[in-house]
Amino acid sequence: MPVGIDDISFYTANFSLDLQELAANNGSDAAKYTVGIGQERMSVPGADEDVVTMAANACVPLLEGMAQRGEGTNAINTILFATETGIDQSKAAGVYLHSLLKLNPRCRVVELKQACYSATAALQLATAWVARKPQEKVLVVASDIARYDRQTPGEATQGCGAVAMIVSANPRLVALDPETGIHTEDVMDFWRPNYRSTALVDGKYSTKVYLRCVRSAWQDFQQQSQLQFGNFDYFCYHLPFSRMAQKAHNHLANGNAHELSAQALEDQISSSLIYNRITGNSYTAAMYIGLISLLDNTALDLAGKRVGFFSYGSGSVGEFFTGTLVDGYQSMLHSEGHQSMLASRKPLNYAEYQTMYGFEVPVDGGDHAFAEQTNGKFRLAGISQHKRLYEAR
Ligand code: HMG
Repeated sequence: MPVGIDDISFYTANFSLDLQELAANNGSDAAKYTVGIGQERMSVPGADEDVVTMAANACVPLLEGMAQRGEGTNAINTILFATETGIDQSKAAGVYLHSLLKLNPRCRVVELKQACYSATAALQLATAWVARKPQEKVLVVASDIARYDRQTPGEATQGCGAVAMIVSANPRLVALDPETGIHTEDVMDFWRPNYRSTALVDGKYSTKVYLRCVRSAWQDFQQQSQLQFGNFDYFCYHLPFSRMAQKAHNHLANGNAHELSAQALEDQISSSLIYNRITGNSYTAAMYIGLISLLDNTALDLAGKRVGFFSYGSGSVGEFFTGTLVDGYQSMLHSEGHQSMLASRKPLNYAEYQTMYGFEVPVDGGDHAFAEQTNGKFRLAGISQHKRLYEAR
């Protein structure tokens, strides 16, 4: 019985900063961003957007689809919420999500963390659960806001976004294979101590560790599976910025894909990079937004095509796994919704970006209402006595 992704959608914040605007104000050459790291814009969250609101907004098309098909949501009895932008040390962000979506109380909810990797851990746990109880569905959510100190090399690689996936038996989108390649190594390439709101990073070292990890995970995959590089049609990589995927793909192809031209290698990843170029890094969600980008932006029928996935989380854990697009998968896509959501983002000038960057949720325990900035269905209305107050618009 195949198990995998039955439906997938993403959401990003309603504001964006053009990296040319950033370059014009921080003294960088714009080509360093547009060519060197391959990025055009980054999403910037409003005061009333956080990982819960983005996740809830990402779930809307999935739940609407289930309602239209008369499926109901009672089969969802597990929510796995992957994030490294936690809003509470104790309560799982997914519990707020469960409440906003009005899901069945007969549901287990937990939060998972391992930098950008944890959505893949969530997906693998979900497939194992569904394999054991095929009548049940798991809602896997990945939601993050990538935030670095201003005037640092990391600043241009910020961004945010959330992905929501329904994992089920007989999936209508991607059937996942059980064989995977894994690699864990204790390194300090990127981390965020509890007392900081921005990540610390050894940037150039992190790109080297990423490449080392893709090779190690691939080598392990080859021990677990008969598949060779030539058996794959497309690849989705973790996307801190789009150039990183190009480097990783060339690194992996080196020694494995003698017969493929540079253009053929680029064709295997180019569609997966389109959304990342204009949203930026979204940590746990990034690779899955890459998958959606591949599906939304490829005119060819991908049914039967095999996709290789490399998920990386600093610190570090990497996993290489694979799946095949299911016949008729097109009926499950939300391409128009994604494209209109991206097009409706408000471009910020540098001064507006600085103001929005400077916003912090007050920690004084008082009552604070937040400006209505998002045009999403769900928003963070404010905070009162240290309790976050969410609402549907
Ligand atoms: P930097 O010092 O700003 O940039 O750091 P650089 O000097 O290395 O330049 C970047 C590229 O632009 C280079 O190309 C330059 O040659 C080129 P490369 O040598 O790499 O091919 N360049 C230009 N190209 C055209 N015209 C120009 C020009 N100038 C320079 N005028 C860095 C870049 C990515 C390190 C920095 O942005 C950073 O620290 N980012 C944050 C860390 C990061 O994203 N790491 C990626 C791997 S780790 C990861 O993916 C995990 C992560 O998502 C977190 C998690 O797991 O939770 C981050």
